Amino acid sequence: MQGDIQRVLIDEGVISRRVSRMAEEVQADFPEGPLLVIVLLKGAMVFASDLLRRIARPLEIECLNVASYHGATESCGRVDFLDRTFPRVAGRSVLLLDDILDTGRTLHAVAARLRDEGAKEVRTGVLLAKDKAREADVRATYVGFEVGDEFVVGYGLDFRGRYRNLPFVGVLKPEVVERAGPP
Ligand code: IMP
Ligand code: MG
Repeated sequence: MQGDIQRVLIDEGVISRRVSRMAEEVQADFPEGPLLVIVLLKGAMVFASDLLRRIARPLEIECLNVASYHGATESCGRVDFLDRTFPRVAGRSVLLLDDILDTGRTLHAVAARLRDEGAKEVRTGVLLAKDKAREADVRATYVGFEVGDEFVVGYGLDFRGRYRNLPFVGVLKPEVVERAGPP
């Protein structure tokens, strides 16, 4: 698996220190009262589990499955909610977590839905934000790292369902992507 990586962009220690800082930022910012954290599966699960264990205040965790990628390395434009139910968010302060801000469509669509469902306040946190123009008007409240506009894997992020368990964020060798063929 590590042999498929062309280069490491952000190593484990650097991620760990930044995630600790982000946890402090979240703790300092959020109003009193129990926080509701919504984790977008599957990409944000690794980031969320590290971040949330460093937040020492009452919180509840919900997960949502949304699809925006469908196996390609380019976003396809539609955001589907895949769960049969939606968490009860009315009146709650919500922290929405995702792995990466790319086109922005996912975060935009989910944050809009949370507001529609009556969330009192929605903040967003992402491990990574790609340095590019967003297609949806969205900004993350908390950003771990800015990265270039290239496809990355690891620390929750996948290519065709793999590489999520890499402890670092890296770039795949081009031949790995080519060998995988069309989605
Ligand atoms: P957006 O809706 O275009 O902002 O894309 C967000 C989703 O696309 C993320 O939750 C990821 O699942 C996926 N994604 C975007 N860029 C990458 C990448 O470089 N590697 C892996 N997944 C990505
Ligand atoms: Mg994802």
